[in-house]
Amino acid sequence: MPATVIVGAQWGDEGKGKLTDLLARDMDLVVRYQGGHNAGHTVVVGDESFALQLVPSGILYAHTTPVIGNGVVVDPGVLIAEVEALSSRGVDVSRLKVSGCAHLVMPYHHELDKVTERFLGKNSLGTTRRGIGPAYADKAARVGLRVQDLLDPRIFVEKLDVVLREKNAILAKVYNRLPLDPAEITTRYLDEYAPKIAPMVTDTVSLLHDSLDCGKNILLEGAQATFLDLDHGTYPFVTSSNPSAGGACTGTGLGPRDIARVIGVAKAYVTRVGAGPFPTELSDADGDTMVTRGHEYGTNTGRRRRTGWLDAVMLRQAARLSSISEIALTKLDVLDVFSNLKVCVAYEAHGKRYEHVPYHQSVLHQASPIYEELPGWKADLTTATSMDDLPREALDFIGFLSEQVGVAITVAGVGPARDQFVQLAQ
Ligand code: GDP
Ligand code: IMO
Ligand code: MG
Repeated sequence: MPATVIVGAQWGDEGKGKLTDLLARDMDLVVRYQGGHNAGHTVVVGDESFALQLVPSGILYAHTTPVIGNGVVVDPGVLIAEVEALSSRGVDVSRLKVSGCAHLVMPYHHELDKVTERFLGKNSLGTTRRGIGPAYADKAARVGLRVQDLLDPRIFVEKLDVVLREKNAILAKVYNRLPLDPAEITTRYLDEYAPKIAPMVTDTVSLLHDSLDCGKNILLEGAQATFLDLDHGTYPFVTSSNPSAGGACTGTGLGPRDIARVIGVAKAYVTRVGAGPFPTELSDADGDTMVTRGHEYGTNTGRRRRTGWLDAVMLRQAARLSSISEIALTKLDVLDVFSNLKVCVAYEAHGKRYEHVPYHQSVLHQASPIYEELPGWKADLTTATSMDDLPREALDFIGFLSEQVGVAITVAGVGPARDQFVQLAQ
């Protein structure tokens, strides 16, 4: 069976965790392909809520093998803490596999993320300060340490020695910070972390291909989202990996023809955490209603998310970039109280109309939304289980969006719980 990819179609927190959990029922392997513990994926099971950072959201099912692919950056201390916390809540974590080729997030990455954000002042990106950007920068600069290095003390010490000399010089001379102690890092990573990570380390490329060869179902769980993509997002207000579907290939070792289905996850409105352009952003009571009803605060960082009306221009672009074959529209229930709903169908900038996201930042930063207004449904959707339970206005809203984007909407989320969704017939 070819693989399925789940991609965030906006600026993150669309409900990828919930959708992954939903689809994982029919999957054999669930794989993270990029990002690190900047992600916060929520899965609600009964009255329990799980906020997953590095561990794939498929972990909650006993029949799936969760895999952390080579494209992920792994902070081993965070991974161990997450695994232990899940285990203490009764989740079986013994099947978790980690690619030996995934890069490690090191203490100096955390430190550099914090000081560079501070240094940028009002131009800061609003990163999660988890060391993600600096870890990917070292990967690209070819000075990164990888998970497999935890299993080889000689190589670990040798690589750390070289890289830490440079990092300490930067920390001390540029940022006036205390240097980090190589002995402390070595002891922590090799004596404390390595024995706990070692049993998880796997040749995940072989595992995934062998699994495909024997007909298993693989789900690739994106973190972050299309408009946080290093290449295709609102640069520089992006993350340092490729959450778009292309990243699912490089971040796992599967080829494009191994992927049959790409599901874009989009909220029925838009949120963004951190700095950067946001054409449909609201700074009024409607925006506050979205924050309150949608509990729009970061899963792990607790930051208030910026909110705005649904933007079909972004979704058209996301569909192109990732060959999205269907959309899961989440948090429809958050819009239950609105009498009128707006959907951005195009942008206007410098007297010109844009149907697609303009590539030039000066245009995008000036873009104002052109809206179409639709009537709200003013009804409680949270108990809907089938299309028959959805009011005409909700179905029209979904139909209108699907037409605007040119992609079928196959699922609508009507609440955070596992069973709060409606399958939509096409
Ligand atoms: P992710 O990063 O894409 O996995 O999304 P997050 O978990 O960070 O944020 C999504 C939030 O919305 C979580 O609190 C989910 O429990 C919640 N959620 C997901 N789908 C729905 C939905 O359809 N309705 C409502 N009300 N909440 C949802
Ligand atoms: P999930 O997987 C929302 C944002 C940060 C910041 C930018 C760069 O839960 O959807 P980074 O720490 O990655 O260098 O920060 O990206 N960001 C997210 N926003 N959801 C996420 O993940 C995010 N991961 C990073 O807020 O603007
Ligand atoms: Mg999230």
